[in-house]
Amino acid sequence: MKDFRSVKVEPLYSQHEIAGRVKAIGEAIAASGPENLLVIVVLKGGFVFAADLVRALSDNGVQLEVEFISLSSYGSDLNSSGEVRILRDIGCPVADRDVLIVDDVLDSGLTLRFAKDLMVGRGAKRVALTALVDKPEGRSVKIAADYVGFTCPDYFVVGYGMDAGHAHRELPFIGVVNMTDDGQE
Ligand code: IMP
Ligand code: MG
Repeated sequence: MKDFRSVKVEPLYSQHEIAGRVKAIGEAIAASGPENLLVIVVLKGGFVFAADLVRALSDNGVQLEVEFISLSSYGSDLNSSGEVRILRDIGCPVADRDVLIVDDVLDSGLTLRFAKDLMVGRGAKRVALTALVDKPEGRSVKIAADYVGFTCPDYFVVGYGMDAGHAHRELPFIGVVNMTDDGQE
């Protein structure tokens, strides 16, 4: 397997820019008047965005509960298999609740389409979607996020929770991985 740790990461969005977008998303969600809000974080990539977003929501007076779901349409390589599986489900009912699903990247749309349909099917009152990075060129199913941090071309982005082959989630900024760079000097 390719060692993504040694691949060069070109900065795309700074820590400061990310903080500004997360603050704005927190304000916009708060303004939508969520009640009895359940935030569902899509693991693993959504964990850093969600950690900052729930505090931005709290800053804006929103009380909420947090659950985690682990969905997979990707193996350890970078190609989507086209099929979404539940690897780990949330631990509570969503019936009659306002739900906010938080993911790192909206690419083909398969993951958020599946997650939204799942929660609507379970009787959620309202289901809103937020993705920190939207890559509209990758879309294969019809879905849009209600709240987007950044819209970017079909780059492979890492950092701030997002990985390439399990590497780079810890970076405080968002960067682009050059897939043609083999990491050799
Ligand atoms: P989708 O189902 O194709 O929309 O893909 C969504 C999932 O693929 C995201 O939750 C990410 O985990 C992963 N993904 C898609 N593009 C990227 C990327 O550029 N960097 C890191 N992960 C990505
Ligand atoms: Mg993900």
